[in-house]
Amino acid sequence: MSKAYRLLNHGPTVLVSAAHGGRRNVMAAAWNMPLDFNPPKVAVVIDKQAYTRTLIEASGEFVLSVPPVALLQQVMAAGSQSGRDLDQDKFEACGLQAASVSAVGAPLVEGCVAWLACKVLPEPEMAARYDLFLAEVVAAWADSSAFSDGRWHIERDEQRSLHHVAGGAFFTTGAMVQG
Ligand SMILES: Cc1cc2nc3c(=O)[nH]c(=O)nc-3n(C[C@H](O)[C@H](O)[C@H](O)COP(=O)(O)O)c2cc1C
Repeated sequence: MSKAYRLLNHGPTVLVSAAHGGRRNVMAAAWNMPLDFNPPKVAVVIDKQAYTRTLIEASGEFVLSVPPVALLQQVMAAGSQSGRDLDQDKFEACGLQAASVSAVGAPLVEGCVAWLACKVLPEPEMAARYDLFLAEVVAAWADSSAFSDGRWHIERDEQRSLHHVAGGAFFTTGAMVQG
């Protein structure tokens, strides 16, 4: 947990998932960041239009999943249509697999390289004014083939994370250099 901030420190676009009252949903979010070390906290901007936000506000929980470039099309699908307008579950509509976790009611997204289970720190004024949500990370995991002992060591190109530029263009995580 003391290294959970490192799962977001390099600025990946994430998938935000939430569930409430038998409904679940997922969206893409580039505007996220770590906020504290221990206990780890995060910040994420979630627009008022997002159906995922409705579920987050109702449940007080969400999961951030860090998708690899292998899920690029699914990330774009999650980021370009609203679950509010779909007849079917958005995970299925986007070709994403959900898995439940014990830490929170929100599901994680399978096939990602890292996951942070989060409980919202209630700041209703901040959410209303800036669409900004702060949360405490209550559990975190990573694919050990990409992150272990608190360090990223991405070896396979398809595991590289996505870094949104604009308009659906991304950089993927590049070579690590040591300062
Ligand atoms: C690459 C990418 C990054 C995005 N980043 C954010 C973000 O940081 N915050 C946000 O509110 N919406 C962001 N979006 C837009 C939402 O993902 C989009 O509005 C989505 O349809 C909301 O889904 P929902 O209504 O099913 O929750 C992003 C979209 C893409 C494609």
